[in-house]
Amino acid sequence: MIILGIETSCDETAVAVLEEGHIIRADLISSQINLHKKYGGVVPELACRRHIEVIDPLVQEALIKSGCTLRQIDAIAVTVGPGLIGALLVGVSIAKSLSYALRIPLLPIHHLEGHISAAFIEHRDVGFPSVALIVSGGHTNLYYMARKGDYRLMGHTIDDAAGEALDKGARLLGYGYPGGPIIDRLARKGNPERFRFPVPYRSRKHYNFSFSGIKTALSQRFSGMIAQSEGDLSLIQDIAAGYQEAVVESLVEKTISAVEKKKALGIILGGGVAANSLLRRRIREEADRMGVATYIPSPSYCTDNGVMIAKAGVSHYERKDFASMDLSPMANFEFSL
Ligand code: KG4
Ligand code: ZN
Repeated sequence: MIILGIETSCDETAVAVLEEGHIIRADLISSQINLHKKYGGVVPELACRRHIEVIDPLVQEALIKSGCTLRQIDAIAVTVGPGLIGALLVGVSIAKSLSYALRIPLLPIHHLEGHISAAFIEHRDVGFPSVALIVSGGHTNLYYMARKGDYRLMGHTIDDAAGEALDKGARLLGYGYPGGPIIDRLARKGNPERFRFPVPYRSRKHYNFSFSGIKTALSQRFSGMIAQSEGDLSLIQDIAAGYQEAVVESLVEKTISAVEKKKALGIILGGGVAANSLLRRRIREEADRMGVATYIPSPSYCTDNGVMIAKAGVSHYERKDFASMDLSPMANFEFSL
């Protein structure tokens, strides 16, 4: 079985070819970071136009890389939502065209199911029950998974997503987009003890997150200091380290308390923020302490990619969950199965 996976929900056009559910025959990403950088964030109209320009050549290139012809593809998996509507429309349109022309199934994938599926690319024996923390630019969700394909939402952010908090934090520190990897890099050389930020939303009574207060704290406490820092890199590194630590500790605390409550055997991480070096280390440390397993994708499978969409497509294919030609992208797509 060979699945072509297409992902265009935000600012990456990604196409992958996956054979038998685990052999990655092609994995291509055309990033738009340079396009959006000067605006400090993703500009939806520009994102959509760039997806249109690159999607056809990228599919062609993926086929060449994979050594497959179109006729050898058994199904097309595509991100249906959530995301930028114009951007999603590009992926869904090409997926529908290919499915129709080739008379092969169209597999509709929720972007977050894609992020969770990324953990199964490199871990073929994920233990259940597990708790899955999905942290991206738009989401911060904690799921309880009694088994593969079963997702119970335990908690979510009530305001900004963790990635958004890091992106905005980097902007306040005078850096560009995307800010998450920049904060990660700055924080590695910083001292998190110098400026302490309160870990947000600490209550153990629920599993929700909140990150807007910490961003306001950064702006109110430090914007004057940052403006006068005159290139004092170590000051910026120390602020970044303190800020990142508070965001990460909030994610770690809630995840660990969900694991304890549910007596889970494993922790799955996914989404762009799961590429963060401190989050990866802290989750592994806590999991080791509790004797639970971790299923953390390589950083390139944490951020948006086509392999995770093809991987999610495998179970849709197996249970014959095919979409019709009426399929439309959904900017706000609730995740419930
Ligand atoms: O999953 P993703 O690629 O796209 C969305 O679905 O949103 O996640 C993008 C987010 C951005 O906020 C970006 O700053 C963050 O992931 N990110 C990181 C790192 N790499 C990407 N955040 C912290 N540390 C990183 N190394
Ligand atoms: Zn994503």
